[in-house]
Amino acid sequence: MPQPVKPRYAIVGVGGRAYLYLEALSRAHAGAGELVALCDSNPGRLARAAGYVADAGVQVATYRADLFAQMLADAAVDRVIVTSPDYTHARYITAALEAGRDVVTEKPLTVDADSCRRIAAARTRSGRALRVTFNYRYSPPRTLVKQALMSGIIGRVRAVNFEWQLDTHHGADYFRRWHRNKANSGGLFVHKATHHFDLLNWWLGSTVTRVRATGERGFYRPETADALGLAPRGERCTGCPAFDRCRVRLDLSRSRALTGLYADNEGHDGYFRDRCVFSRDIDIEDTMAAALTYENGAVVNYLLTANNPREGYRAVFHGERGLITLETTERSYVREDGGLVRPALPETSSVVVQPLFSPPFDLAIPAAVGDHGGGDAVMLQHLFGEIADDPYERAADELAGVWAAMVGIGANASIAAGGEAVELSDLAGDIPRPSPRAPPFGAIHPWTQFNAGDYPFLAGAAREDAGSAWLRRHGV
Ligand SMILES: NC(=O)c1ccc[n+]([C@@H]2O[C@H](COP(=O)([O-])OP(=O)(O)OC[C@H]3O[C@@H](n4cnc5c(N)ncnc54)[C@H](O)[C@@H]3O)[C@@H](O)[C@H]2O)c1
Repeated sequence: MPQPVKPRYAIVGVGGRAYLYLEALSRAHAGAGELVALCDSNPGRLARAAGYVADAGVQVATYRADLFAQMLADAAVDRVIVTSPDYTHARYITAALEAGRDVVTEKPLTVDADSCRRIAAARTRSGRALRVTFNYRYSPPRTLVKQALMSGIIGRVRAVNFEWQLDTHHGADYFRRWHRNKANSGGLFVHKATHHFDLLNWWLGSTVTRVRATGERGFYRPETADALGLAPRGERCTGCPAFDRCRVRLDLSRSRALTGLYADNEGHDGYFRDRCVFSRDIDIEDTMAAALTYENGAVVNYLLTANNPREGYRAVFHGERGLITLETTERSYVREDGGLVRPALPETSSVVVQPLFSPPFDLAIPAAVGDHGGGDAVMLQHLFGEIADDPYERAADELAGVWAAMVGIGANASIAAGGEAVELSDLAGDIPRPSPRAPPFGAIHPWTQFNAGDYPFLAGAAREDAGSAWLRRHGV
C-alpha cells in the first residue's frame, strides 16, 4: 500500500508559542505532517528552533523574515503555521493564502479592522483553508458548557456575565514586551480577550453587533512603582537597582528556557523579554469593561483585569430556563518574589447547571492534561487529524477569527470615542458572519417537563442544594 503523502509544514515566528507546534511536528504528532522550514527575523531563535527539531531527527531549512515568499516556493510548503507577533499575522496569512497555501494561525487573527478585511478577502479569493487555533474551546470544562448549552437544558441564553482575572505573574508579562503597545497587539482587548470573545461567540452561536467599552491602565504605570518605593529603577529587570524589592520582577537567569530563547538572542534585535512593567512607554490598558449586544439578542457584561493576586474566571449564563455557572481557578496565588508556586497547584473548575424549579447539578468534568486548561493537547489531536469527529464545532475558521478579534477592535474604537457605542458592521464591511451548523441551544424542553434522564452529561453530577454545594466547594 502506498503511504499517504504528508502535508509539508513551515512555521513563521519561532518564539515561545511555536514550541507547541515544533514539539508536535517533530515528536508527538510527527506522523501527521512533515516540518520542512522555519522562518524568523531573529537568526539566534531560528537556529535554536532548528536545533530543537534536529534533536528529534527532523532537518529543516531556515529563512530570514524577508525570505518568507521564497521559503514557500523553495521548500514546497503546503501549510504555514503563523506564530509570529500579532501585528505580523496579516502579512504572512495573506501572502501564504495568495501563494495557494493553507494557513494555521495563532490568535488573535490580527489587530485591526483593515487587516481583517484583507485576510477575509484573501481567504475567499484563494479558496485555501485558514484555521485559527482557538485552544480555549478545547479545554474540558469549556467544552462541557458548550455541550450543556447545546442540549437546550437552560433554553436560549439571554445574558452572560463574564469576568476574567489575570494575576501579577501572567498578567504582568503582557506589559514587558511587544504586547505593551497597541499597535503590536491591539491591547488586551484584542490580544487576550479574543480568546474570551471567541468562547462567547461559540457558546452563544452568534456574533456581536454593538460594543460599548471603557478601559484604563491603573496598575502597570510609573506612579505605582513610585508608590511601592521602587525608585530609582531600570528600563528592564536585568540590572535594575530595585530588582530585589520588586514583586513583579522577572528573573530571566532563573529560567533556562527564557534565557535560551530571549536573553541569549537579544543582541540580534534588542528584544528584551524583561522590560519594566511600570514603564512610561506602555499604552495598553490593564482594566477593561465592555457591554456587548449579540445578533441573537443576548447581552454580555465583560470584565478583564490584569493585576490580580490570583488567576481565573467566572461565566454565568442566564438562560430562559435556568442558569449555568462556570468557574475556574487557574492559579490561587503568586509568590512574593513574583514567581510561581512549585510544584504548580492544580487548576480547579466547576460547572453548575441549575434548571428552573430544580436543585443545581454540579457536573463531573473530564480530567484535563497539560497547558491552557488541557485545551492545547486536545486541539493538537484535532488539528493533526487524530480526532475527526467534532460535534461541538471547535475548529475555527477565518470568520470565527474575524468576529472574535472585531469585538476587541470595536472596544478599542469605543474607548477612543469616550465610551460611545460602536457598530461592528461599520468596521467589518462586507465580511459575512459565521453560521454554526448545529443550533446553539438545542431542542428546548416544555416548561413543565424537565427530566434529568434526557441529559447524558448529568450522569455523575452531584445534585445538591446551592448552599451545600457552595460549602463543599469552599471546603467548609
Ligand atoms: N493560543 C495561546 O494560548 C497562545 C499562547 C501564547 C502565544 N500565542 C500567540 O502566539 C504568537 C507568538 O507569541 P509568543 O509568545 O510566542 O511571542 P514571542 O515574542 O515569544 O515569539 C515571536 C517570534 O516571532 C519572531 N518575529 C518577530 N517579528 C517577526 C517578523 N516580522 N517575522 C518573522 N518573525 C518575527 C520573534 O523573533 C520571535 O521568535 C502571538 O500571536 C500570540 O498571540 C497564543
